[in-house]
Amino acid sequence: MNDQLRAALQQMPKAELHIHIEGSLEPELIFALAERNGVALNYASVEELRAAYAFTDLQSFLDIYYAGASVLLREQDFYDMTAAYLARAEADNVRHAEIFFDPQTHTARGVPMRTVIDGIHRACQDSPVSATLILSFLRHLSEEDAFATLEAALPLRDKYIGIGLDSSEVGNPPEKFARVFARCKELGFHLVAHAGEEGPPAYIGTALDLLKVERIDHGVRCLEDAALTARLAREQIALTVCPLSNVKLRVFDKMEQHNLLALLDAGLAVTVNSDDPAYFGGYMNDNFIATFEALPLGLSHAQRLARNGFAAAFLPAAQKQKYLDEVDAFFAAL
Ligand code: ADE
Ligand code: ZN
Repeated sequence: MNDQLRAALQQMPKAELHIHIEGSLEPELIFALAERNGVALNYASVEELRAAYAFTDLQSFLDIYYAGASVLLREQDFYDMTAAYLARAEADNVRHAEIFFDPQTHTARGVPMRTVIDGIHRACQDSPVSATLILSFLRHLSEEDAFATLEAALPLRDKYIGIGLDSSEVGNPPEKFARVFARCKELGFHLVAHAGEEGPPAYIGTALDLLKVERIDHGVRCLEDAALTARLAREQIALTVCPLSNVKLRVFDKMEQHNLLALLDAGLAVTVNSDDPAYFGGYMNDNFIATFEALPLGLSHAQRLARNGFAAAFLPAAQKQKYLDEVDAFFAAL
């Protein structure tokens, strides 16, 4: 890749729309929090933990990801994790981030909902990066558990703007959560769901039709269904694609095989995101650089991807336009 393209990828203004805050916990911070809170870990050192990050599929990652999150107990822990992510995002010229959090991972261990949300939210308030929160239900748990989680989080509803759906996809289809998503829509939340990461393209269609989501997280398997691809293009449904994640979790064996360019060529509203940066080998700029190194992508693709991120963000129209103008001014000045 030439120096101009690399510098543009690093310096262009970005929006990140698919980041699990628990997936930003670096091994060093996991060990520091374990010590601070007296939590025992199954790994003797940072190096041993990092060496365990050799995933074969989504579930092999999720098992380690939930174990890592067990060190989070106090409000300050959630604050420190979020502040560390936002500092990395700022360094990558991320202007706006919409951050997933998984409350059930914590409330199931006895951590109060308020501890989770207040800690993450306070770090967002203190950052120069514009940051909003999306509460995600774990789809391997029941819809009843999701309803109870919503109930517990509603007193804090001013601190998050949307609802998402993540964790083990195959065997946990969108329809399992149709009623709780209908309730969240009535309450006025933005709605998103992971679909078509490991699961079949049919889950993308049912996430749109039954859950009424506004964006699809991942969605890379849509190309297996021509009618679905045409619909996603026609309706300009944003896909929050996470290239390094897809390679680490073996959705694609190598970055050279990633379908990001094919998705763009199909006219889809593709965005680039980091998913779980501490586990998958990098933050936003690492994702852009790895993708552009492996695929025949250039400056016009970079501009389109940066624009797509802001266009798909849950932001007021005027603020969105300000960011889009900033992207265009950046590329015009190259
Ligand atoms: N939770 C954190 N990262 C995830 C991913 N890539 N897919 C599903 N659930 C997740
Ligand atoms: Zn994800």
